[in-house]
Amino acid sequence: MKDKMVPLLVIGALIMGVYFLFSGGGKKPGTSVAVKLPVLSSTAAGGQAIFKTNCSQCHGPNAGGTTQGPPLIHKYYEPNHHADGAFYRAAATGVRAHHWRFGNMPPIRTVTTQDVSKIIVFIRDVQKANGVF
Ligand code: HEC
Repeated sequence: MKDKMVPLLVIGALIMGVYFLFSGGGKKPGTSVAVKLPVLSSTAAGGQAIFKTNCSQCHGPNAGGTTQGPPLIHKYYEPNHHADGAFYRAAATGVRAHHWRFGNMPPIRTVTTQDVSKIIVFIRDVQKANGVF
């Protein structure tokens, strides 16, 4: 009896492991990336401050992601996939969840268009420094 249980347990554990690996890919909430910060221009540093105040609660202080929102220092958000317009739109109208499972991003009404321009300079500089593009 005991001898038969052991392989069953092993198979059970394997099935659980495979399920865990394939159930969410890398897209589950909690996916965050380590970000190294380059030396920032003054515009980028201004963008960083605005980002910290308005965006970091979900995207993380350096846009590496949190349990509430995805990393923006990520291939998905390189300029050819999400051009600068996506940032202005995201802040103005919010984002319907489509790439991840964090839920929707609400419109962020505390930032102006000029604020978003500075945020973009910050994000692009950090993306470049981290080999995103
Ligand atoms: C309340 C949480 C939250 C805050 C605050 C937040 N975001 Fe987001 N953001 C999200 C989530 C969640 C997504 C991912 C939606 C998806 O694709 O599944 C997202 C996606 C984005 C995208 C991708 C847009 C697209 O077209 O796919 C950009 C750009 C972005 N956010 C920028 C910002 C900026 C800039 C700020 C600050 C002004 C900000 N976010 C603040 C949660 C947030």
